[in-house]
Amino acid sequence: MIEVTELRRTYRRSRGGEVEALRGVSFEVRAGQRFGIVGGSGSGKSTLVRLLAALDRPSSGEIHFRGTRIDGLPERKLGFLRSELQIVFQDPMGSLDPRMRVRDIISEPLGRARDRAERVRELLDAVGLPADSGQRYPHQFSGGQRQRISIARALAPRPRVLLADEPVSALDVSVRKQILDLLADLVDRFELTLVFVSHDLAVVRHVCDTVAVMRRGEIVELGDVRRVYQRPEHPYTRELIAAAPNLARALARLGEGA
Ligand SMILES: Nc1ncnc2c1ncn2[C@@H]1O[C@H](COP(=O)(O)OP(=O)(O)OP(=O)(O)O)[C@@H](O)[C@H]1O
Ligand SMILES: [Mg+2]
Repeated sequence: MIEVTELRRTYRRSRGGEVEALRGVSFEVRAGQRFGIVGGSGSGKSTLVRLLAALDRPSSGEIHFRGTRIDGLPERKLGFLRSELQIVFQDPMGSLDPRMRVRDIISEPLGRARDRAERVRELLDAVGLPADSGQRYPHQFSGGQRQRISIARALAPRPRVLLADEPVSALDVSVRKQILDLLADLVDRFELTLVFVSHDLAVVRHVCDTVAVMRRGEIVELGDVRRVYQRPEHPYTRELIAAAPNLARALARLGEGA
């Protein structure tokens, strides 16, 4: 589905000098895979997501989406990617237009399709929102409900791939599991491929089958998520696990037991 080769992204600092946000990252995401990306703040996770979505360009390296090289394609040639790959961001309030009704937010990616109203009803139902939510505005919902609206909007164009960048980090702890379970459920039901970013190991473990551990712009470990947690090979992965004193508690909270 996605193939990334030797991806680099260097940013110029405003006060001079450069930041190497990605320093030669390579991996593959197969159809149906739930690919987690975990790492500390500043390790390059969001930079990678932006590149995968062609919202930014790499300094070097290649990204192939379903066999087509997408890095460096002009926007007018990215139409297929704009519908086949959708993103859910961390902050649902920041990514939803407060002046738009929910039905218009959700159906915006559908253009002038004749079955818009029907599709909005289906999507509200799929994400577990009441049928009359469409007439309301984002501020009339809770944080968790707003994230459900973002998810509905992302699903509207029937994407193959969902990118989620810290989709529950801004949410109250009490609703995180619901949203994670909803995501996992939708990924199953619509046979999506998931790329899921989090700084939280417990969260990735709950949702993903494969994990890449990032540190300072590099992938230091990649493999089956259970194996990585049970037998971490890289010292940094061990550090991440050890430095999460509430990992057991977090897992328990997510209903997995420690
Ligand atoms: N547009 C930009 N201009 C300059 N530097 C940037 C830009 N975007 C990211 N960076 C830098 O690149 C590095 C990686 O940032 P990135 O946002 O990808 O990290 P992250 O892993 O998503 O972190 P977090 O967990 O805090 O979200 C950081 O040092 C960051 O300051
Ligand atoms: Mg980030």
